[in-house]
Amino acid sequence: MAQRLQFPHDFVWGVATSSYQIEGAWQEDGKGESIWDRFSHTPGKVLNGDTGDVACDHYHRYVEDVALMRSLGIGAYRFSIAWPRVQPQGHGPVNPAGLDFYDRLVDALLAAGIRPFVTLYHWDLPQALQDRGGWGNRDVARWFADYAHIVARRLGDRVKHWITHNEPWVVAMVGHLIGEHAPGLQDPALAVRVAHHLLLSHGLALEPIRSESAGCQAGITLNLIPMYPASDKGADLDAAARNDGFVNRWFLDPLLRGRYPEDMLALWEQIVPEVDPDDLAVISRPIDFLGVNYYTRQVVKHDQEGNPLLQVALVHPPGEYTTMNWEVYPEGLYELLMRLHREYAVPALYITENGAAYPDVVDAEGRVRDPKRVAYLRSHLVQAHRAIADGVPLRGYFAWSFMDNFEWAHGYSQRFGLVYVDFATQERIVKDSGRWFGEAAQENGVEP
Ligand code: FCB
Repeated sequence: MAQRLQFPHDFVWGVATSSYQIEGAWQEDGKGESIWDRFSHTPGKVLNGDTGDVACDHYHRYVEDVALMRSLGIGAYRFSIAWPRVQPQGHGPVNPAGLDFYDRLVDALLAAGIRPFVTLYHWDLPQALQDRGGWGNRDVARWFADYAHIVARRLGDRVKHWITHNEPWVVAMVGHLIGEHAPGLQDPALAVRVAHHLLLSHGLALEPIRSESAGCQAGITLNLIPMYPASDKGADLDAAARNDGFVNRWFLDPLLRGRYPEDMLALWEQIVPEVDPDDLAVISRPIDFLGVNYYTRQVVKHDQEGNPLLQVALVHPPGEYTTMNWEVYPEGLYELLMRLHREYAVPALYITENGAAYPDVVDAEGRVRDPKRVAYLRSHLVQAHRAIADGVPLRGYFAWSFMDNFEWAHGYSQRFGLVYVDFATQERIVKDSGRWFGEAAQENGVEP
């Protein structure tokens, strides 16, 4: 048997979720409405009319869920806080019961020996703020920093890893350009303005977090996608570079270089947002780590008729795909990590999400056999290990997701969990991949 690949002794093995996708209890204990409550309750927005009203009922079952994590041997848990639970109107009055929930969750995790990684914004903006323009309103960036301060004041003695935002590209572009996510708008100039305010809010939140959480590590999570040209024709090489600018550099460059990429500024002359003189200095305040969500690569060709902002289209090469129709491409993770290390000199990295959706079923013995997910996780961990061996400061890996949950516009049709959830009964069944991942975490390594 080939030798096990060992990870550094302090490597973090975690699982990830987000508030709207698992909590349920959408109207309980003083929680305000979020844009995802509003969006999922709007007919036609989510597949099958699914909503997060109940989801995995984690709000009521967190004790059981933490016990399950512990039984698997998981070392860390990345979860998000629902802003409207903490501040039902988005700014102003605090809802103590909302903060209490996260306080109890953090204590349960620590008692189980599981390190909490907190994401402050995983897409569930208070609807009251959307009614005031949402992320298109610059004031929301300041209010986000106030909210971050409130949460850090309550949890900062025990939580030492903070992520301001999850995937600002998705918030800005899928929510405000493509319109498939809340708030469901399609306005290019607004989308780019939203992206700017998200980045600004990240920069503004760092100081209050650090002031309340001594010795903490604070960062941001981006969805990053390595881009490959569909051919070696110049037009396709340029198309891949534009798509890279759109998804990756539009966020990496302001955060880590303090400027927006020149080529994209020129391309988007008509829609670039107003930027105040100090904004980029705020946005590029030093972070302790960058969180990377990696699922797939994209193969890009030039297409006059394609996306009008970019004139690109995606090509789907033969290969293995998950039920999200995302190509399985583990080498892309290695290349991405190497690029972040070489081109951006990031101080530290965590893979804050990586995983795959497959059509899991419970068999006659009550078991969920998911060899494809095991293969997916293993192959990506092998590439992560390779990157560490080549000098990348990768500190941990979080599998998406701890359990099956509400997959946004896809509702409950996409199962990403290491734990199967029967949404009718709320029964949890550990999949083979869950046991496999727990063993990898315990052994601090994987078989190649
Ligand atoms: C990411 C999201 C996460 C989950 C996975 C599949 O974009 O951060 O909430 O939906 O995709």
